[in-house]
Amino acid sequence: MAFPPAFLDELTARNPIEDVVGQYVNLKRSGSNLFGLCPFHGEKTASFSVAPDKGIYYCFGCHKGGNVINFEMEIEGLSYPDAVRALAKRAGLEVPEDEQYQSRYRQQERLWALHKEAARFYHSQLYAPIGANALQYAAGRGMPKSILTKFGIGYAPDSWTALVDWLRKKGYTDQELRDSGLVTVSRKNGNLFDRFRDRLMFPIIDVRGNVIGFGGRIMNNQDKSAAKYLNSPETLIFNKRKNLFALNLAKKSKLGYLILVEGYMDAIALHQFGFDCAVASLGTALTEDGANLLSRYTEQVVLIYDGDEAGQNATKRAIPILEKAGLQVKVLQMRDAKDPDEYLKKFGADRFKLLLEESSNRVEYQLNAIRKKYDLRDDDQKVKYLQESADLLSKIGSSVRREVYGNRVAETAGINADAMELEIRRARERKIKHEDRKWEREAVQPVRSIQPKERSLRYDNVKSAMAEEMVLSQILTEPALLAEIPELKPEMFSAEALGKAFSQLSERYRQGLEVSLSGLTDFTPEEMSHLAGISQRLQGPVNHQGLADCARTIREEYQKSQTKTMDDIMLYREKMQKSKGTKP
Ligand code: CTP
Ligand code: MN
Repeated sequence: MAFPPAFLDELTARNPIEDVVGQYVNLKRSGSNLFGLCPFHGEKTASFSVAPDKGIYYCFGCHKGGNVINFEMEIEGLSYPDAVRALAKRAGLEVPEDEQYQSRYRQQERLWALHKEAARFYHSQLYAPIGANALQYAAGRGMPKSILTKFGIGYAPDSWTALVDWLRKKGYTDQELRDSGLVTVSRKNGNLFDRFRDRLMFPIIDVRGNVIGFGGRIMNNQDKSAAKYLNSPETLIFNKRKNLFALNLAKKSKLGYLILVEGYMDAIALHQFGFDCAVASLGTALTEDGANLLSRYTEQVVLIYDGDEAGQNATKRAIPILEKAGLQVKVLQMRDAKDPDEYLKKFGADRFKLLLEESSNRVEYQLNAIRKKYDLRDDDQKVKYLQESADLLSKIGSSVRREVYGNRVAETAGINADAMELEIRRARERKIKHEDRKWEREAVQPVRSIQPKERSLRYDNVKSAMAEEMVLSQILTEPALLAEIPELKPEMFSAEALGKAFSQLSERYRQGLEVSLSGLTDFTPEEMSHLAGISQRLQGPVNHQGLADCARTIREEYQKSQTKTMDDIMLYREKMQKSKGTKP
């Protein structure tokens, strides 16, 4: 849906970008900009800029940027309309909503209420006579009553319509039952049945405290065809890629890090034994959304996946996803038990704590992984082990860390520490030389380095695009310059996104509205980042002659492209004529 432009202007005016960003980033003034550590990628020097006068932010490191709405979207993981709503709430503004949104929200509210009702029902069944086996199963797995209460664990009775009947009695319609995903619909007659039967039920609760779905565990292993865990399907309120089990509790932890595990039972056991910072993914591999969600609550994640091969592979895949979200990753290798749940119940919290303390950081983990690939009794393999390790260590910025790990590798392989140091230095020189060459290539051909990273934004006509960037940056600095280039039209721009920005900015200028990136609408986050980059990178004093030159270049390039198109058409016509003429 589209929000009225006047409302959006009011919204940006009432949410100064430096205030909104300031809630997440410690900003320090430097000239007309504020700088801080980028919240979107891990860094030690401040390359994240906020320009209060332009209403934008831009990171010179990861190139993310945009206006205050883009920031809210990115940092809170919200859609555009939800980010607008959040900012409106922050500033105490009423949002002009459309009918469609309101009815969707009402539907969500009903589903949240329905799920809460279902969770209550399942929990009560655990203590009813029908739940005796389930209660015994839970006890057998070492779950005390306090944990059953804390996690709202329940029992779905071995019945076809126990939940359906209960929810109907509470006033939920059949349509709502179908939308909830907690029932299945008979293909024969359309009747509704309980989806979960005779299972131990784990409510899945989002960070706002709403029950949004369930995981149900089978309790006897006789039926080999039945899945061990059955999860709610995707619904209007449940997206398993975007939520994590137990995050509603773990987000309040004072431990300062989060533990990510594979299973519901693992997360629960960790909480039970005092590690109240544990969360689990919801029956899927960790996703980018999941990692971004984690990064809202912590900077450090300890990964504890099962000790089997599948767990190790999942660990390898999860590390880059977590790091991309700006998280520091430590890995705890499970040993002497298949998963944390089993470990804690076998050996207790103290021993687990030791394991946690020695959990290695990413470099150690990767060195270990390399170590496992080679048989060090074989000289050839030993050399390969040393080279591959040196390659990895050469990427570490800190010389102290390079030395510490280098010594450790040397020791493992039984070689002299100096030899290892030399090997790392060589690998580092190779890498630096490689980067120098890359830099040279780009410096010699500036054309290539101005190309946006995002493929969909690539420039077709770089000469014109450079001029277009310049024009935009100049009018963002001084909107009145628009009056000096009346003959420049949006359709003359070779880059679509830049032309669209020029068009919207000119229109705002004509209407006497503020000319800034905060007033733009209908741009993708990538386009906004690119525009913010142009505004922050190219900022310079007003240059009347330069502006006129750029406008002329754009017009000339446009005319060339038009004549070229005309030439093509003429050429095509000629060909057609000829081929017609030669036909008998
Ligand atoms: N899972 C699933 N569907 C399955 C099996 C597993 O969704 N058929 C998900 C569940 O989220 C489960 C996680 O994968 O918690 C890990 O599975 P697994 O290691 O097999 O189970 P545990 O967590 O160890 O469960 P338990 O200790 O109860 O056997
Ligand atoms: Mn387990």
